[in-house]
Amino acid sequence: MNSTVQSLFNLNGKTAIVTGGAMGIGGGIAKRLAEAGANILIVDIVEKGEAMDTINEIVKAGGKVEYMQVDIANISKIDSIVEKALSAFGDIDILVNNAGIFKYLPVTYLTEELWDRTMNINLKALAFLSKAVVNAMIAKQHGGRIINISSIDSLKPSGNLATYDASKGGVRMLTRSFAKEVGKHGITVNDIAPGGVNTPGAAKIMGDNASKEQMEAMKAGMEQFVKTLPLQRMGDPEDIANATLFLASNASAYMTGTTLVVDGGLLLI
Ligand SMILES: NC(=O)c1ccc[n+]([C@@H]2O[C@H](COP(=O)([O-])OP(=O)(O)OC[C@H]3O[C@@H](n4cnc5c(N)ncnc54)[C@H](O)[C@@H]3O)[C@@H](O)[C@H]2O)c1
Repeated sequence: MNSTVQSLFNLNGKTAIVTGGAMGIGGGIAKRLAEAGANILIVDIVEKGEAMDTINEIVKAGGKVEYMQVDIANISKIDSIVEKALSAFGDIDILVNNAGIFKYLPVTYLTEELWDRTMNINLKALAFLSKAVVNAMIAKQHGGRIINISSIDSLKPSGNLATYDASKGGVRMLTRSFAKEVGKHGITVNDIAPGGVNTPGAAKIMGDNASKEQMEAMKAGMEQFVKTLPLQRMGDPEDIANATLFLASNASAYMTGTTLVVDGGLLLI
């Protein structure tokens, strides 16, 4: 063997862009990659103040982090994300396409507004940011890592999330399409399919206008659901962050175009 465990997971001197990195799964990913040594550019729609817990933890641990407030659905802003990473850190080695929205809505109530917003953030922005980053990586001729956060719903619909499920099915196929074309440049592209993870977004899945009754029914349903999971707990952002570190590291050097399922056994039920 030519490597050590320490060298495999060492991201010193690397730069990672994490979309939706202010909180939730993206916040966990930003912190874990920073801990492994990577410089982090967090790109998120919220104001910087809402990302300060994540930013402070990274800085406290000695990491370097920059913040950019962007709605990634605005494709005209995509190039400025790449420019910001290059001007702040000089390079881009890792892209984590994590930002995503998910709202409950039965198919009989499907709306064009939710369809367009979901596709624009979850799928279109991911495609165009990947394109921009891949071009930057090819220009530097050093390869790289793209990690897309898909969902267990891309493999097995959980119900009332049809628009979201379609967007995440698209993410899985885009992962494979990009992987096939950019492997020759030393760039790997994989996705992670999380099961249920405790995050601010998951807590608001019913939308902002949910009634007390709907929230209580949801909570009871979740408690029941967790009991049926083989690992009998919800996931934490750290569970997804650890899988992301693996895909960002040299430990996954021979993996591309695949899906890493991190779901507590959800697919088994
Ligand atoms: N939580 C789960 O159970 C779960 C399960 C499977 C997959 N996922 C996926 O994981 C990813 C993260 O989910 P989460 O649960 O942490 O969600 P979250 O809502 O807690 O966090 C998402 C982050 O993305 C940001 N964001 C949303 N829209 C944006 C936009 N247009 N531009 C820039 N940033 C934007 C939000 O501000 C937030 O910081 C999503 O892609 C989601 O689909 C989550």
